[in-house]
Amino acid sequence: MDVESSPKKVHAAIREARRRGLTIGCVPTMGALHAGHVSLVQRARSENDFVVATIFVNPTQFGPTEDFSRYPRTLDTDLEFCRGAGADLVFTPQVADMYAAHAETIVRVTGLSMVLEGAHRPGHFDGVTTVVTKLFQITEPDRAYFGQKDYQQQLIIRRMVQDLNIPVTIVTCPIIREADGLAMSSRNRYLSPEERGIAAEIFQALQLADRLAVGSAVSPREIAERMRAHLEGTGGLSVQYAVVADSQTLASQETRIGGGSGVALIAAKLGTTRLIDNQILNYSVAE
Ligand code: PAJ
Repeated sequence: MDVESSPKKVHAAIREARRRGLTIGCVPTMGALHAGHVSLVQRARSENDFVVATIFVNPTQFGPTEDFSRYPRTLDTDLEFCRGAGADLVFTPQVADMYAAHAETIVRVTGLSMVLEGAHRPGHFDGVTTVVTKLFQITEPDRAYFGQKDYQQQLIIRRMVQDLNIPVTIVTCPIIREADGLAMSSRNRYLSPEERGIAAEIFQALQLADRLAVGSAVSPREIAERMRAHLEGTGGLSVQYAVVADSQTLASQETRIGGGSGVALIAAKLGTTRLIDNQILNYSVAE
């Protein structure tokens, strides 16, 4: 496995792999890797000849009061995870390798970026779409792998590659969870033992939504209200949103009419730690 911080050298290595006729799979990450990231690299390994993982804590997607400077940086163990999952190359640029001082260009997906995460984290998705475009330019992947964990992010990336004719197939991979259901996240390590005990209630609220979708005729609006009530009944959680939305447009879903499915999305703060999670809902009973 090669480790390289220079965009030019990574591009040259990818070009060489392509010249040899290999297909390229790319897994963008910010490091602090866990089993969720590993599942993406393994999936990429199983579907491509050459796998490049990227590790870059991207400053432009953090707000001024967010955790950029304290975001966990664990490069040595990250590289071991990548090696174990079968990556061929890991791209580990520094900020100066990715952003020239005079950079003036951003990539923005206008509509989808404004709601939910975008409303609570202004500018966040501009940072994501800009850096992912740059990573795609550098690694020219046939396929790129994203987690359903960041549901809105993968939708926005899908919109972006369609809108900009970027010749890459986006593959969305299932959410990997801890034993109690908490979605794995690099930010989980911020939680105190007490907060960690509470965190799984987010998953419990999504399970409640799933049960209501499958086993009752409760409307999406009421499912959202029941999720919120569950979360608000849990001391210590501060709910930012708990919604049921159209799985493609993210418009709030009011009734089951016109769709056999939806997506339940939650963002909540536990102390200073912000957690997100989601669950696809398949309505099996008409309203
Ligand atoms: P990061 O938070 O490191 O996540 C990298 C990828 O891993 C994302 O596609 C994310 O959805 C996925 N992932 C995280 N937790 C997961 C879990 N529990 N199960 C499955 N997949 C999971 O998302 C980013 O970085 C950045 O925004 C990035 C796309 C790299 C751009 O900077």
